[in-house]
Amino acid sequence: MNSAVESAWARLEALPRPRLEELFAADPARLASLSARLELPDGSGVLFDWSKTHLDAAHLSDFQALAEAAGFAARRAALFAGEVVNLTEHRAAEHTAQRGLGRESSVEEAAALHARMASLVAAIHDGALSEVRHLIHIGIGGSALGPALAIDALARDLALVDVHVVSNIDGCALEAAFAKCDPAKTLIAIASKTFTTTETMTNAASALAWLTENGVDDVYGRVVALTAYPEKAVEWGVDETRVLPFQESVGGRYSLWSSIGFPVALALGWEGFAEFLEGAAAMDRHFLDCDVSENLPLRAAFADQLYAHLRSCQTRAVFAYDERLRLLPSYLQQLEMESNGKSVTADGQPVSGPTAAITWGGVGTDAQHAVFQLLHQGTHLIPVDFIAAIAPGDALDPAHHANLLANCFAQGAALMAGKASADPARAYPGDRPSATVLLDELTPASLGALVAFHEHRTFANAVLLGINPFDQFGVELGKEIAKQIEVGGTRFDASTEALLKAAGIGG
Ligand code: F6P
Repeated sequence: MNSAVESAWARLEALPRPRLEELFAADPARLASLSARLELPDGSGVLFDWSKTHLDAAHLSDFQALAEAAGFAARRAALFAGEVVNLTEHRAAEHTAQRGLGRESSVEEAAALHARMASLVAAIHDGALSEVRHLIHIGIGGSALGPALAIDALARDLALVDVHVVSNIDGCALEAAFAKCDPAKTLIAIASKTFTTTETMTNAASALAWLTENGVDDVYGRVVALTAYPEKAVEWGVDETRVLPFQESVGGRYSLWSSIGFPVALALGWEGFAEFLEGAAAMDRHFLDCDVSENLPLRAAFADQLYAHLRSCQTRAVFAYDERLRLLPSYLQQLEMESNGKSVTADGQPVSGPTAAITWGGVGTDAQHAVFQLLHQGTHLIPVDFIAAIAPGDALDPAHHANLLANCFAQGAALMAGKASADPARAYPGDRPSATVLLDELTPASLGALVAFHEHRTFANAVLLGINPFDQFGVELGKEIAKQIEVGGTRFDASTEALLKAAGIGG
């Protein structure tokens, strides 16, 4: 840790800790200075409000000093320039090039690959592969969570093709998709950056077997592959014309914008997918061009660090007050925890404090009746993000949506204000922080901006922590041991041996 970083942390740690309502009382301009709106290309916008967090002018100034000392501007420039920012794997991280911002050659290559994807989407819509009513999208982690989120959020009413995302190797997941699809009208998308992931390759083989068993001729003719290793897909049997490649420099959990987004484009139509990319690009431009004092993803990272580092919060919670965003918490879990769940810095030294908080959450109002008790009265301090849209997604009595939003805003107010009571069991301590992200409406562009906001927030946190957010070696050991079990011949600890024996598996 360089000395400027150390002294910025020391100043932050020494700051006083007024309660939230004292912060509002001390600064009449607090709401204005801690909230901001981003306008989007489709005419909608997003409001961000951090006024109910403990960030204040002193925090902002010291966090900005920390960002500068941590080399934020240079690391951001390197990200967008397509430089090697993933040092352990010697790779760039070029997800923004998919949205048109980045190294020129990468942006051009991404545009060419998108054009190829657009042609295949159009051909399928035009009946080139006979009637396609269903798509079973098989992938896992970043090859599934993004498509699942985007389809659930955007394609509920307007899906041109009915998409089922299957990730788990548990055959129950694939069987549930089979039950909803007519094999003669089903296309299988195999989504895997590496085209080697066990779960995905096993599910893909079973999906083809299901087509065969159900009388489909030329089952390979019903397969599309989405991968950074097209030669592996061709070797597996997929026709080259239906292999949609993407660049190796796009990380798995940042790959929704590449051909991994194929089911989104197929369900929404290319125009919808293009709007999704444009919304993300608007957030990219903001993140790239905006000074540290006004930068929205960076500001979110300041709040994250305030709670993780200065207040020792081990978790952060995200509640989507919108049924269409119910998969957002699980999407963010991979993005944030796989990126920043690290114990060493980018140059291999042990970190000096906590890294990623545990991201968890749910959907409002359901979560209010399940876990909010702990948020209001438990012993843990948990910073909360509320995410909602002003325009309803339903066509029912407007009372539904008004009540949904009233509940969302009430929770933030209640967490902050608390309530005194002579009866300790009925007292609310208050001073519990929340931030709110309020979309005008949920559109492809606003979802794109929301996801890109979280990608950049994750990156900004990594810069403040001095860690590499783009590798994920922590997932490998378990995979290796699972392979050893499958192959047989390795002795494990007594507990694992007993479990294997009880289940009758292993060598
Ligand atoms: O095991 C973790 C991981 O590598 C994720 O980072 C990735 O999104 C997922 O597996 C799937 O990988 P692939 O797209 O190569 O199948």
